[in-house]
Amino acid sequence: MRTSFVAGNWKMNKTIAETQELLSAMVGKLEEISGVEKVVCPPFIALSKAAEMLKGTSVGLGAQNMHWEEKGAFTGESAPGMVKELCGYVILGHSERRAYFGETDETVNKKLIAAEKAGLTPIVCVGETLAQYEAGETSQVVTSQTRLGLQGVSSEFASRIVVAYEPVWAIGTGKASSAENAQAVHGEMIRPVLTELFGAEIAQTIRILYGGSVTSANAAEFFSQVDIDGALVGGASLKVDDFTAIVKAAAK
Ligand code: PGA
Repeated sequence: MRTSFVAGNWKMNKTIAETQELLSAMVGKLEEISGVEKVVCPPFIALSKAAEMLKGTSVGLGAQNMHWEEKGAFTGESAPGMVKELCGYVILGHSERRAYFGETDETVNKKLIAAEKAGLTPIVCVGETLAQYEAGETSQVVTSQTRLGLQGVSSEFASRIVVAYEPVWAIGTGKASSAENAQAVHGEMIRPVLTELFGAEIAQTIRILYGGSVTSANAAEFFSQVDIDGALVGGASLKVDDFTAIVKAAAK
């Protein structure tokens, strides 16, 4: 049995003051929900304040990105050890990082290997663009991103990896994938690659999240699918009631 997992990706939203305000309203409600791993991922600048507020709670903290080097001349970047001081989790290879900041399967893989070394739990994102979806290339894109992004780690660490399938056409568009389509991608494309990389036993323990316009209205349908183990939530994670409802749906 895989424990459900829900992470909120705040993206570039919320100042430190606003983070404090949102977490004050949210954490108590999230604390009441058990049976699901809960994580919030505020912007880097607010992580320190968030870490302070989440200390001793059941709500985990994640960064939205990191560099793979331990330190050095990389202006504007944060090292794995720096992230680990505050966070237990890190999102890697989000499609916005791939589209706007030049992330490739190769850099995602370097970051994954760095996450293992730092002791961070990675949430690795994969997903096809609208053009690739329309061209029928979903399987090719998603399997190749998974295979190249996730290679070269120990099997012990592999079982801690969380994969997020986020079709780019569904992110922030209000047009979520159907639950059946997401199930097919998780069960017939991603999990078989995990089996190929790590063996069937470990592949069965890896959580695969769906992301892309998840709401309190559609979450339960996604979570009813056998290979959908939770969600990576963008817009709805900024609203206390919506995010709480999604986490509750995952706990059932
Ligand atoms: P969304 O974003 O829920 O706003 O579609 C999801 C994500 O990008 O992680």
